Amino acid sequence: MRRKLAAGNWKMNGTNASLTELQTLIATHPAPGVDILICPPATLLVQAAGLSADSPVMIGAQDCHSAASGAHTGDISAPMLADAGAVAVILGHSERRQDHGEESALVAAKISAAHAAHLTAILCLGESLAEREAAQTLDVIADQLRHSLPDTATGANTVIAYEPIWAIGTGLTPSPAQISEVHRFLRSELRARFGSEAATGFRLLYGGSVKPANAPEIFALDDVDGALVGGASLTAADFSPIITALENA
Ligand code: 13P
Repeated sequence: MRRKLAAGNWKMNGTNASLTELQTLIATHPAPGVDILICPPATLLVQAAGLSADSPVMIGAQDCHSAASGAHTGDISAPMLADAGAVAVILGHSERRQDHGEESALVAAKISAAHAAHLTAILCLGESLAEREAAQTLDVIADQLRHSLPDTATGANTVIAYEPIWAIGTGLTPSPAQISEVHRFLRSELRARFGSEAATGFRLLYGGSVKPANAPEIFALDDVDGALVGGASLTAADFSPIITALENA
C-alpha cells in the first residue's frame, strides 16, 4: 500500500539558523509512521542532509534544470541535487510556472532529469481561481497531468501534489468535496494512462494552506496520501502536529 508522506516546502525561506527547526523535527519524530520530507532552499541542502543522515527525515529540493550539466548560469541539475543529499525534488510548482514561465513540457523534461538522477519527482498541479470559477478545474488538471508527466513516471519515482493556486498562502482551502473530486479524478486519469495496478502506486498529496487545525479533516479523505506544506512547514511547532495528524489518519 502507499506510505503516507508529509512534505514541507520551505520555498525561499531559511538560513543556517533555520536548521534548528529541522533538528527539533528530527528529535520529535524518531520513528514516524509516515514518510517525512523537508525541501529547504538549495543553499541549505548539504547541511540539512548531513543533519538528517541518521534519521528517517528525508531531504528534497525545490527545482532542477532539465540538463545534467552545462552552460546554465545559476541553475542546478538533478545529479547535483542528488550529490548534495537530496532524494526528491519538487517540480512544476505554480510559483515556478508563474515566476519563471515554466510550461508543462519543460516540467516533463525536468521530471525525466530527476528520474535519471534517481530522485523522486513531486509534480505540482492545480487551477487558478478564475479557472475554478469558470468550471475548468478538471480540464486544467488533466492537461497539466498529461503534459507534465513523462512516460517514465511510476508510483515509486513520482508523487503528485494537487495545489490549487488560490489556496496557496491564502488561508483558503477547498472544501473536502472539492479536494476529493480532484484526487479521484487524478487517480482515474492515472488509471487510464498507466493501467489500474500501476496507477494505484502513485501517492497523491494535497497542498495549499494546510495547517495543524485543518490537517485531520483533509487527511481523513479517501485518496489523500499526505500533504505538501508551505508556511506551516517552516517551524517544527507547526509541522509536527501535521505529521502526527497524518500518522493518526
Ligand atoms: P502554503 O502551505 O504556504 O499555502 O503553501 C503550499 C505550497 O505551495 C506548498 O508547495
